[in-house]
Amino acid sequence: MDTQKPLRLGVNVDHVATLRNARGGVHPNPVAAALLAIKSGADGITAHLREDRRHIRDDDIAAIREAIAAPLNLEMAATEEMVAIALNTRPNAACIVPERREEVTTEGGLAVVGNEDRLTDLLRPLKEAGIRLSLFIEANEADIESAKQIGADIVELHTGSYCNHLTGGPTELRRIRHAAAYGANLGIEIHAGHGLGFDTVGPIAAIPEIEELNIGHFLVGESVFCGLETAITQMRQKMQSSRCHNNLG
Ligand code: PXP
Repeated sequence: MDTQKPLRLGVNVDHVATLRNARGGVHPNPVAAALLAIKSGADGITAHLREDRRHIRDDDIAAIREAIAAPLNLEMAATEEMVAIALNTRPNAACIVPERREEVTTEGGLAVVGNEDRLTDLLRPLKEAGIRLSLFIEANEADIESAKQIGADIVELHTGSYCNHLTGGPTELRRIRHAAAYGANLGIEIHAGHGLGFDTVGPIAAIPEIEELNIGHFLVGESVFCGLETAITQMRQKMQSSRCHNNLG
């Protein structure tokens, strides 16, 4: 019997907003990109409303929510301001990420160990509102256990180090494989993302416990050369062929 889990693609549209903001106008529009991404085969849209609003803004989140029927995964810091916005927006999932203003992108996973009580109290209203709770973490057992303890539905495993050829590679891949199996065994849904591109997506897509990949920067960059639709179509093909290849052994 084929028990393979399907693998979804969430397209992160943050850097469409980065381009728009570079000129302060309205083009390119992240809502139009979100609609095109869904038409091109994305299963959902991801957007990170950063505290400094450097790319996606509050009005983008509201407009994306309004425009798309597909699931919205709202990436956000663990702050009261962001919890209030999530409760207003009602995304399908809230993915809690660590945030430092001076960082270029989300460096490292959320420190769940040691912060269980604070996170449980802060995030409880999201769970009570029926918003799925996702925690963006490094691939390690301790953070997965703490995620389980605070009631996370999902952990998204940070693939940034794996994708960084200077520090990543086989050791990081082994860590991600182990964490995916460990988390799934505890009943947590497993996602992965950060830094993934055509060259790196295959081994991650082949991990059978992973149910969703969230990919942004590469797809937006690649769309300069081939268009968003083609970039997404090719990414989906690579994901699917790695998944099937793995299934065939
Ligand atoms: N997942 C999470 C939790 C992220 O913070 C990001 C970056 O915003 C991504 C996935 C997508 O990363 P990238 O843009 O490098 O594909």
